[in-house]
Amino acid sequence: MLTILHVSDLHFGPPYVSKVGEALLQIAPSLHPDAVVVSGDLTQRAKPAQFAAARAFIDRFPPVPKIVVPGNHDVPLFRVAERLLRPLDEYGKCFPDSLDRVHRIAGAVIVSLNSTSPHRAVTNGRIRLEQLEFCRDAFGGLPDGTPKIVVSHHHFAPAPDYLRDETMPRAKRAMSRFLDMGVELILGGHLHRAYVGNSLDFFPFEDRKRGVIIVQCGTTTSRRGRGREREKNSFNLIEIGPEMLQVTHFIYFDDDGHFAPLSRHLFPRPGRRFVEGPRGAVGRAARIIVCETEPVPEAETPAGDEAVTSR
Ligand SMILES: [Fe+2]
Repeated sequence: MLTILHVSDLHFGPPYVSKVGEALLQIAPSLHPDAVVVSGDLTQRAKPAQFAAARAFIDRFPPVPKIVVPGNHDVPLFRVAERLLRPLDEYGKCFPDSLDRVHRIAGAVIVSLNSTSPHRAVTNGRIRLEQLEFCRDAFGGLPDGTPKIVVSHHHFAPAPDYLRDETMPRAKRAMSRFLDMGVELILGGHLHRAYVGNSLDFFPFEDRKRGVIIVQCGTTTSRRGRGREREKNSFNLIEIGPEMLQVTHFIYFDDDGHFAPLSRHLFPRPGRRFVEGPRGAVGRAARIIVCETEPVPEAETPAGDEAVTSR
């Protein structure tokens, strides 16, 4: 079983809400994550003090691997010379080796990608062809059943709430390649509202068996939530076993002062499908859902896991 705590868009600086950040740190150990994913926008304006605060905050999570990528707010938008000449220098001082990287954790392969494009697509980001080749190398030749996960800040598909966000340029090309590679899950942020979708909602490729599960995270600790998460904060908990992939969406309840689950999404792993079992104790009308096929053995976990490759 792999458990990922997925947070995003912390926005250290004026938008950061301290009481929400503390509530996140309070609940994190009880979720027993194997890794913490932070999918970009650690800061509001890419200032050194904001990066230092974000780093200090992330260091307070449980001592598990941290998978961090930059967002568009982590490049200096208004310091133009710096943005053009050394856009991620300040980010790199606090988060070294946190651009394109391969992580092997609990039998899964997670590729984190730097989707910022400080010169050409400041807001919408970009994934370059060589990054897709980097993914292909990382995901190639893995045992069946290995979870293949991509993390990037910018979104590869539009949100389903018609707020008209611009999708990343060449997102269709990237998604097509990810399907070819057998990517199972994409984790992202940027939109400041959470949703769980599928590439088949947006890209009618020929292979329509399964698609890629898309899990977006809202802003976990800032007051910049949008749409149905306006003035709200959220994070995701991803649990992946040999047969099931489960996403639980947590939201901060201001009245109670803590995060709690709001919704849960359950998917069979590749090669699995749901069948209905007998009535169970989940609820009066609930049915236990079990997987039909034999479980695939967990992929071998190399000792020491952690990130092993970067570029
Ligand atoms: Fe953001």
